[in-house]
Amino acid sequence: MKPIVVVGAGVAGMATALAAAPARVLLLSRDAAGAASWLAQGGIAAAMDAADSVESHVRDTLEAGAQHNSLEAVRWLCGEAPATVRWLATQGVAFDRAADGTLALGREGGHHAARIVHAGGDATGAVIVQALQARVRQAGHVEWRDGVDVDALLVHDGRVAGVRTRDGAGRSEEVEATAVVLATGGIGALWARTSNPPGANGAGLALALVAGAFPRDLEFMQFHPTALDVGGERLPLLTEALRGAGARLVDGDGHALMRGVHPLGDLAPRDIVARRVWEVQREGAATLLDATDVQGDWQRRFPTVLAACLAHGFDPRTTPLPITPAAHFHMGGLATDLDGRTSLPGLYAVGEVGCNGVHGANRLASNSLLEAVAGGRRTGADLAQSPIPPPGDGAWHWIEREPSLDAEGVRTLRTMLWNVAGPVRESTVLRDAWRICRAAAETSWQMRLAKRLLRAMRVRKESLGAHYREDRGCPM
Ligand code: SIN
Repeated sequence: MKPIVVVGAGVAGMATALAAAPARVLLLSRDAAGAASWLAQGGIAAAMDAADSVESHVRDTLEAGAQHNSLEAVRWLCGEAPATVRWLATQGVAFDRAADGTLALGREGGHHAARIVHAGGDATGAVIVQALQARVRQAGHVEWRDGVDVDALLVHDGRVAGVRTRDGAGRSEEVEATAVVLATGGIGALWARTSNPPGANGAGLALALVAGAFPRDLEFMQFHPTALDVGGERLPLLTEALRGAGARLVDGDGHALMRGVHPLGDLAPRDIVARRVWEVQREGAATLLDATDVQGDWQRRFPTVLAACLAHGFDPRTTPLPITPAAHFHMGGLATDLDGRTSLPGLYAVGEVGCNGVHGANRLASNSLLEAVAGGRRTGADLAQSPIPPPGDGAWHWIEREPSLDAEGVRTLRTMLWNVAGPVRESTVLRDAWRICRAAAETSWQMRLAKRLLRAMRVRKESLGAHYREDRGCPM
């Protein structure tokens, strides 16, 4: 019996694998310890409070997304949120609670209500990953292989019907499948400043695009406004929950950065805050996050931020922190329906690599872990019920990912994307970068992918959400 192959063992991949029972699942991951899910500091947005409502969560998601969202997808996601939190609790996730035993609900940018649940404070992603990994290891229907890359898709009779894997020693294996689910994450590591781990480099997206899957909204890359500005391949994130707890964005003279910019001030939607920080930096001023007024037990609420700051010589309890925007989340990806189906029969995409339109032009804070879990569960359950396609007698062929850039080429590309495709973009600069990538597109999958991204950024001539065109402008 052929398995369902799930590629990627972050939260979305594991939720898919668990929900596909009793179907057989082969879960493949390149480096499970390096999945971006581990780093997620934000929690899960869910209208759980009596004073809150799913409608309000829907409104905030649409407002953050610049109304570019699929309304059907937003209604589904926000409606699923409370049940998703309850399901995670049954999987062993111990959410943070207030003294009276009720769920502790925090606030983040773009939310008009306190509706973010956390586990382990700002270590929510890690807590959820650990709980789901334990479930996956116990699940009789899932076989999990870590340390293998997927570098080719098998197409049989016009249907994606398997993958080719390569392990660390270069050994390859061909695996036939009833369906292939990509849960390979985002593309933030293609930018020089990012909160994402190196593996979030778009390799899965690139392979599916070469196979002919349709993309959607590729131009919308979210920049988080508050990464700790310390250099390095990945910048430590300073969670928005800090601003929800009273931290403030200031310049070197202590003036509030967001005064007069947006009614929600420091908790304005992320694209607006990121652009403001970028512009202030461009004027040559310092940009800082002053969290010295944040009350309470840092070790319990913000253990990840505290450890990262101390490791770089900053004590956030006493010192304002230098910040920079950083590539954080890709709203675009492989176009899918709500069941995760891409345009290629047999190929599915869940989590950040997919795009069902739920996030619009800018994702609302703490809607990503939510979507990874809710979307993965929905896709897994749908696959478990889908009839197994009968073997076809048409042609077989392999779609292979192109060679990779070397380390120097990756560094150059990351710098270029940061400079031309950051929080503020301009037409001629985008055109010149696109031409560079077009000329080199045959040489590596990264250049071909960058060409696709830059093309989407050029084609969207107006400013919308996280895609800001300086040559067109838009009201802040
Ligand atoms: C954060 O904690 O600020 C990031 C959360 C998210 O990406 O939604």
